[in-house]
Amino acid sequence: MPLSLRTKIVAFYMLVLLVLLPVLGAILYFSLEKIVFASLDASLRSRAAVLADLTSEEDEDTDAGLEGDDLWEYRSPQSRFYFQVMDSRGKILRRSASLGSAGLPPHAVTSDRITFATLRWQGRPIRLCSMPVYPSGRQRQAGRRIIQCAEDIHGSIHLLDTYRNALALAILCILAVSSAGGMFIASRALAPVREISRAVDRISASRLEERLSLPDTPRELRPLAASFNRTFAGLEKAFARQRQFISDASHELRTPVAVILSQSEITRRKKRTPREYDRALGGIQGAAQYMAGIVKKLATLARLDDESPGLQRERVELRGVVQKARTLLEPLAAGREVGLELAAPEPLFVTGDPAYLLELMVNLVTNAVTFNHRGGKVRMTCRPEDFWATVEISDTGIGIPEADLPRIFERFYRADPSRSRETGGSGLGLSICQEIVQAHAGRIEMRSTVGSGTTVKIFLRSWKA
Ligand SMILES: Nc1ncnc2c1ncn2[C@@H]1O[C@H](COP(=O)(O)OP(=O)(O)OP(=O)(O)O)[C@@H](O)[C@H]1O
Ligand SMILES: [Mg+2]
Repeated sequence: MPLSLRTKIVAFYMLVLLVLLPVLGAILYFSLEKIVFASLDASLRSRAAVLADLTSEEDEDTDAGLEGDDLWEYRSPQSRFYFQVMDSRGKILRRSASLGSAGLPPHAVTSDRITFATLRWQGRPIRLCSMPVYPSGRQRQAGRRIIQCAEDIHGSIHLLDTYRNALALAILCILAVSSAGGMFIASRALAPVREISRAVDRISASRLEERLSLPDTPRELRPLAASFNRTFAGLEKAFARQRQFISDASHELRTPVAVILSQSEITRRKKRTPREYDRALGGIQGAAQYMAGIVKKLATLARLDDESPGLQRERVELRGVVQKARTLLEPLAAGREVGLELAAPEPLFVTGDPAYLLELMVNLVTNAVTFNHRGGKVRMTCRPEDFWATVEISDTGIGIPEADLPRIFERFYRADPSRSRETGGSGLGLSICQEIVQAHAGRIEMRSTVGSGTTVKIFLRSWKA
């Protein structure tokens, strides 16, 4: 099972403390040990120096020397200070009364330098200082002597042990308090995340208009709350569009359904002549055809709305597609006495789906013919522009009012409802065109002047081998 974020944060924090605190404890302990031993060694060194002086005095002048008052510290058998003087062969020449009959533990002095050692003597820890001395005058022939001076350091060792135990206890206490504190802080820090998740749960599909309050969210989590709010805004818009679309679609289908129902009901009321039946069936067929047209367009839109609309990606020659649309619409244009002209000096290659591109051209040319005057013209021009292959379809038709232009690509939007009803338009053609162009990573532009005509221009990516 994956660990919770809180456990991970606290575990990391504890791991850092587990490494840092013992290191810090060790540094503190060894610093104190160094200070204690430096002070012990300094004291032993000066004692050894005093003893060295006294040894040389003893031999040269009087018998006083090592028997003098200066050495009162070493006299008592209970004293914690000891000394002994050895010759170069290790024979003990003098020893302090505090040593009793025993000698200090053997400690080889190999160099001519003063040395220090920590040893155990009679079950107690001692610090031993060994100082080589070269006597002057009459004693010179006796050779090197070694003055050993020691101190019982049980007190210092006890102090260091107590300090070490106190440090260990302090570290354990810090770890315990930190882990509890860490858990508490991590819980507090993550509380806003839980709050956001509760708020997100609350905002369901039916309450998409609600938003997370940014001022009440901690600064670090504001970007998260803001992106949730953006998602909700997007979802709200999409749901609203969906609702509008369903309501528009049902509204569009209501009229032909009503026509079919009323026609069939009226016709069935009494016996009719074959001619009357024919007329009624004609009306029903017309309404059914209109519905079939809408259903087909809705299916196309649904396919194009898909994340991956399953478009072909092949090399398509655009001039040929426009030419095909022109051929298909020639009868419609002839019926309305509209002239179709095509200007395409060179072949244009794009990447795309030939069926969808043909549908795009047919929709646009149909509009240009449908919303035209008798004797009007539709001019189709294909030409390359930078990296684009462009198709411009301009007509000499009725034009679109400026106020309608921004909404012209909306589903079921018609600039001139009476004219569209007359032509059987559903207001879906341009939405399909826009979806097709966007699915081909292109763009569509529309310019229009009421009374003089409309120009639609499509930009599609040129084919790259
Ligand atoms: N070339 C044009 N000239 C004038 N008006 C146009 C032109 N093209 C589109 N329109 C206006 O834009 C509206 C939307 O066009 P669109 O092609 O989406 O729908 P439609 O032609 O009414 O129906 P459909 O294409 O679904 O059969 C049309 O109803 C019309 O008012
Ligand atoms: Mg149309």
